[in-house]
Amino acid sequence: MVALKHRNLKLFTLALALFAITIMSFLLNYTQNSGLVLWNPEKYFRFSGPIIRFMTSVRRPCSCETCVSEAENSVWFDERFNYTIPPLMTKQSNMVSEITYKWWTRLQGEKKPMEINKAIEEMFNVIPGHNNLQDQNPYRCRTCAVVGNSGNLKGSEYGGEIDGHSFVFRMNHAPTAKYEKDVGNKTTHHFVYPESVRDLQDNVSMVLIPFKTLDLQWIVSALTTGTINFTYAPVPRKIKVTKDKILVYHPDFMKYIYDKWLLHHGRYPSTGILSVIFALHVCDQVDLYGFGADSKGNWHHYWENNPSAGAFRQTGVHDGDFEAEIIGNLTSINKIKVYKGR
Ligand SMILES: *[C@@H]1O[C@H](CO)[C@@H](O)[C@H](O)[C@H]1NC(C)=O
Ligand SMILES: *[C@@H]1O[C@H](CO)[C@@H](O)[C@H](O)[C@H]1NC(C)=O
Ligand SMILES: *[C@@H]1O[C@H](CO)[C@@H](O)[C@H](O)[C@H]1NC(C)=O
Ligand SMILES: *[C@@H]1O[C@H](CO)[C@@H](O)[C@H](O)[C@H]1NC(C)=O
Ligand SMILES: *[C@@H]1O[C@H](CO)[C@@H](O)[C@H](O)[C@H]1NC(C)=O
Repeated sequence: MVALKHRNLKLFTLALALFAITIMSFLLNYTQNSGLVLWNPEKYFRFSGPIIRFMTSVRRPCSCETCVSEAENSVWFDERFNYTIPPLMTKQSNMVSEITYKWWTRLQGEKKPMEINKAIEEMFNVIPGHNNLQDQNPYRCRTCAVVGNSGNLKGSEYGGEIDGHSFVFRMNHAPTAKYEKDVGNKTTHHFVYPESVRDLQDNVSMVLIPFKTLDLQWIVSALTTGTINFTYAPVPRKIKVTKDKILVYHPDFMKYIYDKWLLHHGRYPSTGILSVIFALHVCDQVDLYGFGADSKGNWHHYWENNPSAGAFRQTGVHDGDFEAEIIGNLTSINKIKVYKGR
């Protein structure tokens, strides 16, 4: 009997505490969102700092030490970052806006493209188109390693550290076999376009970055008939990839990066910056590896032996310096961390 009473009392106290926290969070939320000062807790409790910090921590966007989407006193960031733009095309988000289409269709000077909506429809008859990576919640701590292809990875021994992330993004031809010690052996997402594609392991998501309508047709072809073998360059007729894991980068998101982040520098964004900004939108913590030159100032891929080969700094279509400045600015406001390698 006594034990029962005791338990009831405990439950009652707990319920009361929960009720009080709910009411207070509501008031706080209301105050913050409306900008209308209904109830200013600071005024009522001189020592309310820890309580408020506790309560606001309940509503943090993620459970990592820092969260990318957490409010930050950076006008520069706030002017650029827009969480509502969808990073991926899905069956729900399958429209390319007219403004984007006009820009996008000129990127690689496609002549007589297939009707875009028809190409998208045909694509989603073959691939699923319902993968949502923006499943942010306060209990999630999704760490992402965005692994570029710079020669500064050679001898870096970052492999174990890279593999320790929830997501590991790689791009274009990037191999891991034989380079595991420096670049790791885990890949969750591999960003490619038809001219830069490679075979992927069964459990890797291919993120197709389409730069033209033909790229959408190519993925259908590569999974079915294998009729397309040439765009502006030879492309594989067939690819080894898990169909259900294919994701498609949204052209509207590409345009958003070009407008808001690149301010129209270069002709269009590089795979590198496309992956970095993508990561800002789907990850809670973003770490960059393999970006920039090596310590001797060489620009080459980590799998190339000749440092002067394959320079990818200024390719004519991307503004590498401006993109590097964006990465520098993101670093200085602690939105990302850059591991410089050697
Ligand atoms: C973010 O993007 C949406 C959709 O394009 C737009 O309606 C909204 O105004 C943008 N927000 C900011 C702050 O730019
Ligand atoms: C690669 O994968 C295996 C297990 O799959 C693991 O034991 C190894 O440590 C991984 N990392 C590196 C850097 O090779
Ligand atoms: C993917 O598959 C490979 C080989 O089967 C395995 O070593 C690796 O751990 C898997 N990676 C993930 C992220 O599940
Ligand atoms: C593509 O296929 C056609 C025939 O189907 C062939 O003539 C052509 O050489 C191929 N092109 C490439 C780049 O492999
Ligand atoms: C980087 O930040 C500085 C200072 O806010 C700003 O002047 C500059 O334009 C930014 N660079 C880019 C590429 O956005």
